[in-house]
Amino acid sequence: MPCSKGPVVRSKVLIAAALLSILLLYACGDGSQRQHVAETTTGGNVIRGARMIQYYGCGSCHSIPGISGASGLTGPPLSGVASRIYIAGVLRNTPENMMRWIENPKAVDEKTVMPNLGVTHADATDIAGYLYTLQ
Ligand code: HEC
Repeated sequence: MPCSKGPVVRSKVLIAAALLSILLLYACGDGSQRQHVAETTTGGNVIRGARMIQYYGCGSCHSIPGISGASGLTGPPLSGVASRIYIAGVLRNTPENMMRWIENPKAVDEKTVMPNLGVTHADATDIAGYLYTLQ
């Protein structure tokens, strides 16, 4: 009967909406928590870091989650880079070493294909901030 179905359907919709908002809260909570941890660890600004990754064209050689058009295959994918033990197999993965690598990879490993892109220290700090959200 249509008149008894109405409220049942409506409460199902309400339950679904409630579940969805709980899910969204969890998802957003996790993301902003990760951003907070990355920013405190590196001192960089994650949002600006993402913009700098676009600006320097890192995506022409790396696939980088969350950066549109970043799907290069010359370098390794940067997904999970925050959880790696070593950077490029030569440096211990610490925020300082990450910035050092981004600013001047050739000084760390003269044979690396990754070029010096003239990244400033401030930009490297923000880029490291973004990369540290990629766990
Ligand atoms: C011309 C291609 C190229 C460009 C442009 C480039 N990279 Fe790389 N990158 C590489 C290659 C190749 C490696 C691997 C280096 C090695 O193992 O010696 C690498 C390694 C790395 C690593 C270490 C990854 C790991 O798994 O250890 C990071 C982090 C990184 N690049 C970040 C960046 C950032 C940030 C930019 C932009 C500022 C950038 N790269 C631009 C080619 C590039």
